[in-house]
Amino acid sequence: MKLLITGAAGFIGANFASYIAQEHPEDEIVCLDLLTYAGNLLNLKALETHKRYRFVKGDIADRTFIMELFAKETFDAVINFAAETHVDRSVTDPEIFLRSNVFGTQVLLDACRTYGIKRYHQVSTDEVYGDLPLDRPDLLFTEETPLHTSSPYSASKASADMYVLAYFRTYQVPATISRCSNNYGPYQFPEKMIPLMISRALADEQLPLYGDGLNVRDWLHVYDHCSAIDLILRNGKAGEVYNIGGHNEKTNLEVIKMILKTLQKPESLISYVTDRPGHDLRYAINPDKIERELGWKPVYHFETGILQTIQWYVDNREWWEATISGEYRRYFDEMYKERLS
Ligand code: NAD
Ligand code: DAU
Repeated sequence: MKLLITGAAGFIGANFASYIAQEHPEDEIVCLDLLTYAGNLLNLKALETHKRYRFVKGDIADRTFIMELFAKETFDAVINFAAETHVDRSVTDPEIFLRSNVFGTQVLLDACRTYGIKRYHQVSTDEVYGDLPLDRPDLLFTEETPLHTSSPYSASKASADMYVLAYFRTYQVPATISRCSNNYGPYQFPEKMIPLMISRALADEQLPLYGDGLNVRDWLHVYDHCSAIDLILRNGKAGEVYNIGGHNEKTNLEVIKMILKTLQKPESLISYVTDRPGHDLRYAINPDKIERELGWKPVYHFETGILQTIQWYVDNREWWEATISGEYRRYFDEMYKERLS
């Protein structure tokens, strides 16, 4: 197969491209990325020796560029990871989320429709379902849970999902959608909670924990997300949505305490700060459908996966130190200036 992987220089896209190179060396991989602040070509370094890999810089929301690319290349499948992904940034600057996440998806769908692409996969998120109450552990998100978004980020992802389903129904674009819970693992940009806390703890800096720290996230190792998307791509049914998650709910406080304990840093580094506006309380995925229909099972346990991930950030200090210089430093100072003393 010849695959177009968009957003491939980001955290999950890069892990997915490496997964494909490893598991399906016969596949041709074209990686596309706009290289925003979150995109980093170093994340794709391991692929440089792969004979069937190429990188293209470009914007999924640039219709002319995308149409010209599809006219030149014959892709069998498109997997769309490209997006603005940080909830806090969507609170301060929502417009770019609409452009990249909604309009960009619609441009890709038009290209798939025009050029008769055999499979389009949209990488969506559990955030489209909104949140669950903390006192109802019996409730989980299923594929039938109504969309009920909280942030401009989740609103943009839900809108994109609706376009995907509309293009399947109206134009028979053979599309699938996956909605995964929170990922962790190597190459995650240190604005997201786990790498932010690891990198700051390593530098003996305060860890800004929102609200009371008791919001719950359902963590999945990025490798398991990649294996699920690969299964959907090859065996999933067009028009279907698949939830992905590994039943691993933890409060933010629990995760941060694990990080501090592993790094042998004091809990006094934790600093409770003003909450995120509209902060979702709890996410929890019911993955029965993908397990039953496609035989997917996660291989990572959080307890070992988080240790490996912490070790990766210890071993790859140069990667994240370079990542958090410049523009990111300005972002951090702005986002946290009134939260941290
Ligand atoms: P990320 O921010 O690390 O990477 C996103 C990538 O998209 C970056 O490389 C960026 O340069 C690129 N990009 C942004 N706008 C673009 C545009 N207009 N054209 C081309 N490229 C563009 O994000 P991530 O965590 O790797 O997330 C990837 C996808 O997975 C997103 O669609 C996200 O919504 C979804 N997702 C993420 C998680 C998670 O926990 N991180 C969970 C579920 C779903
Ligand atoms: O659930 C999937 C989603 O997970 C993805 O769709 C998003 O792209 C991804 O960013 C992630 O969203 P979250 O908002 O859950 O992730 P984040 O890492 O930003 O925050 C995780 C939790 O940690 C959340 O409850 C907020 C909290 N937090 C976060 C930051 C950045 C803090 O307490 N302090 C912080 O500084």
